[in-house]
Amino acid sequence: MATRRFGIIMHGITGRMGYNQHLVRSICAIRDQGGVTLPNDDRVMPDPILIGRNAEKVQAIAAKHGIKRTATDLDAALANKDDTIFFDAGSTQMRVGLLRKAIAAGKHIYCEKPVSETLAEAISVAQAAKDKGVKSGVVQDKLYLPGLRKIKMLNDSGFFGRILSVRGEFGYWVFEGDWGQPAQRPSWNYRKKEGGGIILDMLPHWRYVLDNLFGAVEAVSCLGITHIPSRADEAGKTYAADADDAAYATFQLAGGAIAHINSSWCVRVKRDDLVTFQVDGTHGSAVAGLHRCFTQHRVNTPRPVWNPDEPQTMTFEEQWDEVPDNQVYENGFKLQWEEFIRHVVAGTPWKFDLFEGAKGVQLAELALKSWAERRWVDVPALQAAKAAA
Ligand SMILES: NC(=O)c1ccc[n+]([C@@H]2O[C@H](COP(=O)([O-])OP(=O)(O)OC[C@H]3O[C@@H](n4cnc5c(N)ncnc54)[C@H](O)[C@@H]3O)[C@@H](O)[C@H]2O)c1
Repeated sequence: MATRRFGIIMHGITGRMGYNQHLVRSICAIRDQGGVTLPNDDRVMPDPILIGRNAEKVQAIAAKHGIKRTATDLDAALANKDDTIFFDAGSTQMRVGLLRKAIAAGKHIYCEKPVSETLAEAISVAQAAKDKGVKSGVVQDKLYLPGLRKIKMLNDSGFFGRILSVRGEFGYWVFEGDWGQPAQRPSWNYRKKEGGGIILDMLPHWRYVLDNLFGAVEAVSCLGITHIPSRADEAGKTYAADADDAAYATFQLAGGAIAHINSSWCVRVKRDDLVTFQVDGTHGSAVAGLHRCFTQHRVNTPRPVWNPDEPQTMTFEEQWDEVPDNQVYENGFKLQWEEFIRHVVAGTPWKFDLFEGAKGVQLAELALKSWAERRWVDVPALQAAKAAA
């Protein structure tokens, strides 16, 4: 069993996602466990170089996690033939330019979603990677959530019968930042010209979740809104929040199921988790959060009576059975990193390339169009969209 070094250029690791999920929970965790095991039992050990504008900040992060290499000059880092992957979790607007550079330098690409702000850019960068012969991956983390993995298991087992509908509730209150509670998300999320907006942020997730678990998305109807038009930024300065901060979207799926997902940064949570999905099928229903999943089979379905004259006597919450944790569910970002590294090094199968990532951008773009034109919009196959672009 041999262990070999594997160089990864990481950009955006001072940010929320880059630091917590990708650096600490994924790459550092993989290093701590002794690397990624390949199908032949050899191991690869990630050796990251952390790239950022602010040398001191990046060096402090590296020192905290025992990482030796940092740099401010991305071009010089990309020129190093000993590094194999370029990873980006920087803000969305920078992504396409960075990916293009890295592809030109012959690096394999791994990045956060959304790939870009427009479908045309997403397709063109995916095509550039294909033409250059480099491998690519886009984060599709929600599919790795224990709650959704349990839903997949239920579906694969035939538990639902025919799936009729999927209801998703995503969101929590993001503080405005101007009355004693600092905002818990970056201010660029709320500015249109900086790539903000919940539709561009969340619809890419709903695309791969729906496509992979319930049926390909065939059409979308979306109403976006900016509920809170003024917020305070990281420095406490008031700014005009002109990007959509909630989206109420309905989807028609191949196979006939209807999905409706509310995404909001302006909602207070009285449900089991920050995202919940209810799936209703002819034979059974399930409700999943990030981790837990509860089911109700057709034979356990109660017969409530609508009676506005009496308080409800049934405790509906208690009428569901929990799906047990029969396995260990590791961090989904880490699992996806491991799969992508295996794919790059050992050629193992991999689905979530830049073209799959482009589908998420496509759905966001069409949802924005639906909102602007106040109508249902069909979602063409990516090949057709590519030809039309
Ligand atoms: N997969 C998920 O669940 C998930 C969740 C949140 C965000 N994201 C995505 O991750 C990306 C980052 O989001 P975030 O919430 O971590 O944002 P963030 O603002 O916390 O981090 C952005 C990073 O980009 C860097 N950056 C920003 N502007 C820069 C510039 N001009 N030059 C150099 N570096 C610059 C910042 O220093 C920071 O490292 C976004 O594309 C977002 O859509 C994904």
